[in-house]
Amino acid sequence: MNAASLVDILVLGGGGREHALCWKLRQSARAGRLFCAPGNAGIAAVADCVDLAIADPDAVVAFAREHAIGLVVVGPEGPLVAGVVDALRTAGIAVFGPTAAAARLEGSKGFTKDLARAAGIPTAGFRRFASAADAHHYVAVHPLPVVVKADGLASGKGVTVAETNEEGLAALADINGPVVIEECLTGPEASLFVLTDGKTISVWPSAQDHKRAFDDDTGPNTGGMGVVSPAPRLTEALQARALAEIIEPTLKAMAAAGTPYTGVLYAGLMLTADGPKLIEYNCRFGDPECQALMLRLDSDLLDILLACAEGRLAEVTPKWSAEAAVTIVYAAMGYPGTPITGTVIDNIDGAEALGVEVFHAGTRRNTAGKLVAAGGRVLAISALGADVGEARSLAYAAIRKIRWHGGFYRRDIGKV
Ligand code: AMP
Ligand code: GLY
Repeated sequence: MNAASLVDILVLGGGGREHALCWKLRQSARAGRLFCAPGNAGIAAVADCVDLAIADPDAVVAFAREHAIGLVVVGPEGPLVAGVVDALRTAGIAVFGPTAAAARLEGSKGFTKDLARAAGIPTAGFRRFASAADAHHYVAVHPLPVVVKADGLASGKGVTVAETNEEGLAALADINGPVVIEECLTGPEASLFVLTDGKTISVWPSAQDHKRAFDDDTGPNTGGMGVVSPAPRLTEALQARALAEIIEPTLKAMAAAGTPYTGVLYAGLMLTADGPKLIEYNCRFGDPECQALMLRLDSDLLDILLACAEGRLAEVTPKWSAEAAVTIVYAAMGYPGTPITGTVIDNIDGAEALGVEVFHAGTRRNTAGKLVAAGGRVLAISALGADVGEARSLAYAAIRKIRWHGGFYRRDIGKV
């Protein structure tokens, strides 16, 4: 491989998802310099962490030009909704992710619900309201449980499944701006991922997230406390239905509207008695789903993301490990409220010696060079195994090696 064919890469984001992406990109034979903005203490071991306003399209384009970046990979939704992909494309720089218009699938729940209704995509019944005040009466009398959602981006925390009308009204009182009220669906959840360049659809392994903060699915919703991949309840038949009834009509509708979708599309599904229904779309990899997927990917990630960015996705066929993956999130006390930060974390090496990957999310080095908690979700311990049970045992054995008094994790990730 000569130096000329190396690709310099910029990854935007600084969570566990971006650590997993950087870890995998670093393994690519064609990866040249790898920058990550802002990165974190774990990412610093595999990439140059840089200070950059990642949701400022001009700033990202300027950095990419200055460093002759050959591929930008956008981790979180903020830069997508802000139009970073549009600006990079206009500048002729290859980028993995959807345009701002396409990212409305995540940025506006109301947009997606309207699209689903128009295209006949199975999803929960709903009504949109311009403000919380407008929704007040509807929530007060809605049959229970009632689902109250902020229309815009809320990092997975803008949703309340209210068991009483009072609880629904309290959730409503916390929302500024437009609101979506939904019928409550029941059933196991599954996350389905596809990559698309607007022409080809590449179906990736599924995963099942654990959204609630505490064991047995209790406590508040979080960004995700742990994952198993593949999703145990998403059979091949259900996945085929979800692709035909949800994903394909969505991509068709986006293309027909003149806003073709490119990048990774992540569908949150509820496997109801009537079949899979769409809960929401995300326009990015899930976190911590990505950590589990990267462990299972047996192909070169740079080749795949570059092919997707350049409209050549048909040329690559990712290979996947037949093994199952389990990822457990180690969060700081207080999360998903205000986390307690600054507490010292030790013996990650001891955990990794067992054969797991410990991806960092909210971590930094203090002035003494010690690793400390610096966010809500702090570490994502990820293990492979012959089946979910084996991966789970290994992940839990590893997490117990980590010495950290400021954190908590769920004990039931992947438990059957
Ligand atoms: P979202 O941010 O839209 O993925 O919602 C977060 C979580 O809220 C989902 O993973 C579900 O557990 C729950 N949820 C969202 N919408 C509904 C619904 N219509 N019915 C039941 N649960 C829901
Ligand atoms: N783990 C859920 C998400 O990334 O939205």
